[in-house]
Amino acid sequence: MTTPADAEVGRARALLSGARRLLVFTGAGVSAESGVPTFRGAGGMWNAMRAEELATPEAFARDPRLVWEWYGWRRELVARCTPNAAHDAIARHAAAHAGTTVVTQNVDGLHQRAAQAAGDPRGTASVVALHGTLFGVRCARWPACSTRAPHDAPVDATDRATLPHCDACGALLRPDVVWFGEALDPADLDAAFDAAQHADACLVVGTSALVQPAASVAATAARAGAPLVEVNAEATPLSSLAAVALRGRAAELVPALLDP
Ligand code: OAD
Repeated sequence: MTTPADAEVGRARALLSGARRLLVFTGAGVSAESGVPTFRGAGGMWNAMRAEELATPEAFARDPRLVWEWYGWRRELVARCTPNAAHDAIARHAAAHAGTTVVTQNVDGLHQRAAQAAGDPRGTASVVALHGTLFGVRCARWPACSTRAPHDAPVDATDRATLPHCDACGALLRPDVVWFGEALDPADLDAAFDAAQHADACLVVGTSALVQPAASVAATAARAGAPLVEVNAEATPLSSLAAVALRGRAAELVPALLDP
């Protein structure tokens, strides 16, 4: 991976530092250097596994044990990871600038852990997690049954009977994430698009920008006039909208862009 010229980083830094309302929009690439696998690109999970067998409501209905086994593996993996320099720089910036909104597609909780460590007075609420969280469950009958709770205990996926069940209705509990074919939480979508409409600048980090409607958040900010700075290992559909597109590693570039 090449390193962008200092002049490009300086130009991007100037665009971001002038923003009173900064939108930071992230994807799996921001967590790559923490050891969390991405979905696409080199080493991406969707190269080796089929999303429709693991991350759809149909997959859960067909084989909940297999789906829980995969999410259990991801939970254990992420629990061993820690926020990297990119999460930390974003969290420090958000703690110091109340006009910052962090919108992430990630379900790993690393932005929220970094926000806690940075002492953000807004706490974990400073992060909009568009695709949910690995560390929560909701009833498989959601929204007909409203059971939804934090859950980070290990899940025994030996067979259907050992999987977690809903106390209220007895149905299976499922991971509290958004699967392909499912709608995003309307409150999260509103918060994300509202931040995009009103942003003075937008920093996009580590997303292939291929999954909708999430990818439209950054495009909306750009179309509403916010200069867009992209940090990614490779070009994406957002690159052509970017005022500055930086090719490189998030953990190196994001602190260079945001730290005082
Ligand atoms: P992807 O895996 O699609 O894209 C990750 C991006 O990060 C790629 O463009 C990589 O080039 C880039 N990248 C990798 N390492 C990097 C690094 N160290 N620094 C900077 N960039 C790096 O991840 P997302 O765009 O987040 O959805 O994927 C979107 C959604 O697709 C996910 O939220 C998930 C997935 O299926 C659901 O689970 C609903």
